[in-house]
Amino acid sequence: MTAHRSPAERADAGPPRDRPIETYPLPPEADGYPLVGSTVDVVRDPLGFYDRLATYGDVVRYETVIDTFTALLHPDHVERVLLEEPDRFEQYDFEAFGLGIDPEGLVDVDGEQWQRQRTLMQPVFTIDRVRSHADSMVEYAARTAAEWDDGQELALNEEFSALTLQILTRSLFDLEIDPRETDEVIALAARAFNEQLDPRNLTTFLPIWVPTPANRRFKRTYRAYRDRMDELIEQRRRSDEEADDLLTTLLHAEGPEGYTLSETEIRDNMMTFMFAGHDTTSLGLTYTFLLLAQHDDALARLRREHERVLGDERPTTEHLPELEFTERVITEALRLYPPVYMLFRRVTEPVVIGGYRIPEGTVVTLPQFWLHRDERFYDDPDRFDPDRWIESTEEVPDYAYFPFGGGPRHCIGMRFARLEMKLVVAVLARAFDFELLSDPDPDLSPGVTLRPDDDVRVRVSERST
Ligand code: HEM
Repeated sequence: MTAHRSPAERADAGPPRDRPIETYPLPPEADGYPLVGSTVDVVRDPLGFYDRLATYGDVVRYETVIDTFTALLHPDHVERVLLEEPDRFEQYDFEAFGLGIDPEGLVDVDGEQWQRQRTLMQPVFTIDRVRSHADSMVEYAARTAAEWDDGQELALNEEFSALTLQILTRSLFDLEIDPRETDEVIALAARAFNEQLDPRNLTTFLPIWVPTPANRRFKRTYRAYRDRMDELIEQRRRSDEEADDLLTTLLHAEGPEGYTLSETEIRDNMMTFMFAGHDTTSLGLTYTFLLLAQHDDALARLRREHERVLGDERPTTEHLPELEFTERVITEALRLYPPVYMLFRRVTEPVVIGGYRIPEGTVVTLPQFWLHRDERFYDDPDRFDPDRWIESTEEVPDYAYFPFGGGPRHCIGMRFARLEMKLVVAVLARAFDFELLSDPDPDLSPGVTLRPDDDVRVRVSERST
């Protein structure tokens, strides 16, 4: 699957050691307007704007009112940032967008603090620990199936948001919640965080202290979310219960040299995981079923696999290795619709990438949504073709596919998410037919995650198995 090339063959073999960095040119810059640079283009069509950038090359600079950006449009450059030299590129804090909401959570911290937190939490995400949640994932998926009536019209995005939130809170926080009622606050917050970052909302470019109605609404929703997280933490503290889960680790774990988390770190991580762990997986499932609803052949093959491997049984971890086509369907859905569609990093010292000098302070962007459909690396990139992931079918370079990021900061929840998606698909795909009622090629909102603008609506019909 992976094309291995020698360093000399790569797009970015790095600068020769003896050449001073200042002698390298800046990357070509996308045409913009005086003062606001490319802001207008980004607001108008944030995803389509990347097609225009690509006409300048693989390393392209653009200005907005918020920052100077440089888009990196080659897998070798992505690899360099994420895997080879992560210390020269720090997390982008999104504070300029008013989104410094959980600054001491794992997604946002850097350096030693990140290392300590990651080391503390990593044991919660080993294969065995993650697999221990399989039965409850299947149970919640089966309950969702039991709730769906024959012929019912559903918004898949809402259904999967509720399901993944239940799975997450049960597995990581040992909490039973009813996301349709008591925890609407979490779903509302997820929507608000996304709207806050969507460049198509002009308010995105206004500081959070400007009292626009959108900013005031955002602050209210954020406060309600934070208070709810505090309540959940308190609830666990009062119960004296020591479950084998992430919340216990956050509250009680001791790392090397007696390292424990501060109150702010605990709360910020609760907020981080509650959002990062459900919004992403929910979208992954929504897009998987959006695609399956349009590809009868793939759905039929999935069902044949499920009948052969599972028979009448519920899926368990024993079945996982044999659910190969299911795995490929998920891999392909995350290629076409990566829920995390772009990574941002701030350059901490001048670097040369692809022969261009990138000054300190620049924000580099690594766009999955664009690289995952780059025809230099994928045949017929817009086609849904799970079989492209059969070993030896196509040679896809590392980092032309990175839905879970890469290097030391790759997604800590990747195994959890992939397991959950696989089990949920195995439960629901054989129980129902899906008739798509909404746009087969929905418009997408690029917020924190890549969401469909409108509900993905289907009519489900029960299958007699
Ligand atoms: C389909 C589902 C998911 C996708 C596509 C996804 C994607 C990603 C990506 C691309 C990153 C790297 C971000 C960066 O480098 O800036 C990331 C990091 C992270 N993800 Fe996920 N994720 C998913 C599910 C989950 C789940 C289920 C959890 C928690 C249970 C989770 C928790 C996190 C955390 C805490 C980080 C930060 C890791 C660090 O910086 O050390 N994610 N995720």
